[in-house]
Amino acid sequence: MKTRRTYEQLRSARWMVPDDQRSFGHRSRTMQMGYDPADWEGRPIIAILNTWSDAQPCHMHFKDRVEWVKRGVLQAGGFPMELPALSLSENFVKPTTMLYRNMLAMESEELLRSHPIDGAVLMGGCDKTTPGLVMGALSMGLPFIYLPAGPMLRGNWAGRHLGSGTDGFKFWDERRAGTISKEEWQGIEGGIARSYGHCMTMGTASTMTAIAEAMGLTLPGASSIPAADAGHQRMSTQCGRRIVDMVWEDLTPDMIVTAAAVENAVTVAMATGCSTNAIIHLIAMARRAGIALELDDLDRIGRKTPVIANIRPSGATYLMEDFYYAGGLRALMKQLGDKLNSSAITVTGKPLTEGLDLVKVWNDDVIRPLSNPVYHEGSLAVLKGNLSPDGAVIKPAACDPKFHRHKGPALVADSYAELKTIIDDPDYPMTPETVLVLRNAGPQGGPGMPEWGMIPMPKALLKRGLRDMVRLSDARMSGTSFGACVLHVAPESYVGGPLALLKTGDIVELDIPNRSLNMLVPDEELALRRQSWKPPAPRYGRGYGFLFSKHIEQADKGCDFDFLKTEFGPQVDEPAIN
Ligand code: FES
Repeated sequence: MKTRRTYEQLRSARWMVPDDQRSFGHRSRTMQMGYDPADWEGRPIIAILNTWSDAQPCHMHFKDRVEWVKRGVLQAGGFPMELPALSLSENFVKPTTMLYRNMLAMESEELLRSHPIDGAVLMGGCDKTTPGLVMGALSMGLPFIYLPAGPMLRGNWAGRHLGSGTDGFKFWDERRAGTISKEEWQGIEGGIARSYGHCMTMGTASTMTAIAEAMGLTLPGASSIPAADAGHQRMSTQCGRRIVDMVWEDLTPDMIVTAAAVENAVTVAMATGCSTNAIIHLIAMARRAGIALELDDLDRIGRKTPVIANIRPSGATYLMEDFYYAGGLRALMKQLGDKLNSSAITVTGKPLTEGLDLVKVWNDDVIRPLSNPVYHEGSLAVLKGNLSPDGAVIKPAACDPKFHRHKGPALVADSYAELKTIIDDPDYPMTPETVLVLRNAGPQGGPGMPEWGMIPMPKALLKRGLRDMVRLSDARMSGTSFGACVLHVAPESYVGGPLALLKTGDIVELDIPNRSLNMLVPDEELALRRQSWKPPAPRYGRGYGFLFSKHIEQADKGCDFDFLKTEFGPQVDEPAIN
């Protein structure tokens, strides 16, 4: 426990207190905005990093919710300062938000560093905003609290509950197979996203906000509250109140994000049936906190943690609204019992596990007991072999079990354009055993590792009534996706990973129980192919893309920039220069 801070010890006091010309400027410009000294004197300045924008439907309500946060900050005696940050809409940003996650992380860190900030509330939820905001704030090291956007309401069409992403993919396959009409498709379009909030399947957004909560970075229960529930306003105000106390207590993130907290986050992620994207973000977040999380750690924890959240896409029926009504993430944590490490604390300053004995599970079909899981192991499996020496991932719970052991001939596309000609040709020669491969879609090749990994089912198989096949790529896939998709092959093909050597017709062997992924090609043949492989031309000559391609790490390292590693030590926290 640290000693309580005094006002003079706060960062903001360096800007606001000195009797000199520079501080005169800070004070007079604050007064220019209509405040008087009573508004800031003796009060911590709380940044509210708001990822609202007109291009971000998942965060539409942040324009309103930020006012509730400010209300809480003021109630607790702080001075709120809203700072806009990159909104990273999963739908609108091309080629992929993953290209910009690290940009948001850098922006968050530098916004906090460069302004007179003592603590922060981070407002995010849409996929990359959670890791982006958290990574930056962890590197900055000031007290912070994460405010999740909350899931949107269940989708509805023709009396059916629709799930974000999942049903879009599912019904698009039906549309391509000709089993639903244009009018029905339009009905789905209008009903699948009915309110503000992030995707309401257990996709990347729901997974990442659950991870933030399990890491101790939110108020208890915050990640499950639907965006449209009045509880979300109340939670927003509570965040504002709590962060002010966290500043006085000097409750910095290094006290919260410990090895125990990271282990809890992985355990909870596995039990939720988490998005494959979670692996990359978890590794990146943990490493920003100085904890060297590896793919093998995720696989180890996954093997002993069953999926108990019966939420689509791992489950068949329920969505995040049902999860909330069933008790939410706290109820899931209760079901996990002693799988959680009780030494980890949260932004409350208390153990994550405190109070779980009083939590009720209201529907144990939605949040299952460990004795009746949705899937007997965790959500994700890590595969290694001569195709993926540094690892690849698959979501066994979301694919047909008949593919858990599979051998078939590769059909390789070098680009998405080439892939499209294959999948859109109803007569393209292939069999149900074919392994459809997309390469040059990794961190550098994509660029930015787009969510192309749930390769649409080829028309040639759809017309035969098939809805799943083994697909393989160095891309990611949306957390709302499903199917026998092997992803994140590392190293990626664009930088010369073994995937670059695979040829159409080579036999690929997938063995999930044994965690292996191999091409059955002799080593001597691979050595010959290696000799004739030539690196593709660089994609960027300038700009952010250039910086990205020079410094992005591979998927198994979390796709962070190499120069942002914690090993390089903390950046100097410059005082206000006078
Ligand atoms: Fe924002 Fe899915 S599009 S969370």
